[in-house]
Amino acid sequence: MKKHILIVPGDGIGQEVTAVGKKVLDKIAAKFGHEFTYDTALIGHVAIEATGNPLPEETLQKMKDADAVLFGAVGHPKYDNDPTAKVRPEQGLLRMRKELGLYANLRPIKLFDELLSASSIKPEILKGADILFFRELTGDIYFGEKGRKNNGDTAFDMAEYSRYEVERIARKAFEAAMTRKKKLCSVDKANVLETSRLWREVVQKVALEYPEVEVEHQFVDATAMLLIKDPCRFDVVVTANLFGDILTDEASQIAGSMGMLASASIGDGTGVYEPIHGSAHDITGKGVANPLASVLSAALLLDISFGLRAEADALINAVDKVLKAGYRTRDIADSHTTSKNILGTDAMGEQVLNNI
Ligand code: IPM
Ligand code: MG
Repeated sequence: MKKHILIVPGDGIGQEVTAVGKKVLDKIAAKFGHEFTYDTALIGHVAIEATGNPLPEETLQKMKDADAVLFGAVGHPKYDNDPTAKVRPEQGLLRMRKELGLYANLRPIKLFDELLSASSIKPEILKGADILFFRELTGDIYFGEKGRKNNGDTAFDMAEYSRYEVERIARKAFEAAMTRKKKLCSVDKANVLETSRLWREVVQKVALEYPEVEVEHQFVDATAMLLIKDPCRFDVVVTANLFGDILTDEASQIAGSMGMLASASIGDGTGVYEPIHGSAHDITGKGVANPLASVLSAALLLDISFGLRAEADALINAVDKVLKAGYRTRDIADSHTTSKNILGTDAMGEQVLNNI
């Protein structure tokens, strides 16, 4: 198979982890007889520094032209404490999602057995947890009208959803549930928010098309509690943009570390695959970042954008073997990990490559 992949490392540890992601894709291509070509492009803080624009037109065009995008992270601490900054790295990410029509963000939360003790949740609660989140990605309070009034003393962000937007993400989630345990939990705040009442109404309607799927509706606050109390009760979870952002960071602890979680953003055109961790400037350049989320993002890319299931499994199995052999990056090490088994980014990447 011939495919063109755009690598967009972005900021911070994005550079280090996507370098490993590209290497494992190369190895897969060699092993399975595919031809992958690559290009790179700028986004986020590095793009602002180079061009003044967090999503340069050239990057957007390259994304549209590619068969898939392997993405790193965006963000820089210099903007975090400067609420007055007019141009921000994150604007690049949000505009990319909107321009590419990436309305569905899939975040699989699956614990590798070897990492049971790396989580802060008790192993007996965690064992067997396997959740697939569908986070809506192009609507909600993220994209509504925002601004200031009363001479800047009052601020507002408008949350908006259309029937169509809820329907298409709901349908994706139901389709996925049909291939899994046929359980779907829709998360909203319908006791307070009008957008959530529309959300619930639409999900109930779509549910009629999938009578085999057992559906429950939960409020977001209760879901935050249930995820930690009993993660195994969930199969597919579908929710709005902001709730999904928050709940998936929480759920990352079920998988041991944010450093393990990959995500796929899909929709109308090119799919974008990225770790859910951010740019992590506190560890940038130190060579200690966990590259496994980028490896697992490459696996999602192969599976979802190219339909290469066996190749994706080869990557997941390689990660599994490396963990079984006892190798850890710092973020997933526990009291049993010997110091010689604690690897940096590149050494961990090498271990994965050797096991493909
Ligand atoms: C994520 C991130 C982004 C978001 C930020 C960087 C804008 O937290 O992808 O989860 O809020 O969507
Ligand atoms: Mg987030």
